Formats: sequence, structure tokens, C-alpha cells
Amino acid sequence: MKITEILLVEHQMMRALFANVETLLPTLMTLQEIHLVTQIIEGVLDPHGKGEEDFLFSAYNQICQQKKTTLHSYQEHKDIHSSLVLVKNARQPAHARELLKMALLVSREHFNREERGILPLIEKTMSPQTLEDLGQAWLKRE
Ligand SMILES: [Fe+2]
Ligand SMILES: [Fe+2]
Repeated sequence: MKITEILLVEHQMMRALFANVETLLPTLMTLQEIHLVTQIIEGVLDPHGKGEEDFLFSAYNQICQQKKTTLHSYQEHKDIHSSLVLVKNARQPAHARELLKMALLVSREHFNREERGILPLIEKTMSPQTLEDLGQAWLKRE
């Protein structure tokens, strides 16, 4: 499986997780519950973003050089992380719930942008074999 296909599958799984969290969110009454759910989300988002940066770093650089542009993914990964830290720092459950909704929205928008922009560009830039090799390496990572 190509790394780009794996990333799409992970996006879909995270979208499903987010939808479940949004359904549950009104029933989460305490900060502790909201923080716990936030930690679970962070536990899937952070390794996904770090993996994208680690595994696709050379492809990103190549694309940026060709297009004479800067890639926004790195900043967006930091923004997503910061939005989850804000949830964990919130001291009122209602505020924490709102911040968590915002964090999910920011993450979804980021997935959409990657799927429209960087992932198709990576498909064009890297050979199918390299994409397959990276996919294998992704599946074997700890
Ligand atoms: Fe990303
Ligand atoms: Fe992604």
C-alpha cells in the first residue's frame, strides 16, 4: 500500500473518531472526561503528523523547491497541537468543550487541505515504488 493511501485511510479513521467524539461531547460533564478524550485524540493526531513530517520530508522539500513555495503543513501541525493544549488548559467544562470542537474543526480542515494539495503533489513527484516502500516503512514503525 502506498504511503499516500495509508495517510488517506488514517484521515478517514480520524474523521470517524471525531464524529463519535462530537456525538459524545454534550454528555461529557467534567473537565477530567474532556481532557481524557482530548488525550486520546492527541494520541492519534500527533504520531500521524510527525510521521508525515519524518517520512515525507524529502518529498515536501522537493515540491517546495519546484513550486517556489513554503509548505503550510508544518505550521498547521503545530496549530493543531496548540489547539489541543488549549483544551487541556481550559478550566471550565463548557469552554473546554467549545475548544475541543474547534480543534476537531481545525484538524478536519487540515486533512481536507492535505488531500486536495500536498498528497496529490506527492503522488506526482515520487515514483509508485518509492511510495510503496514508504508505505511499508510506515506500517513497520513503532
Ligand atoms: Fe498533516
Ligand atoms: Fe495527514
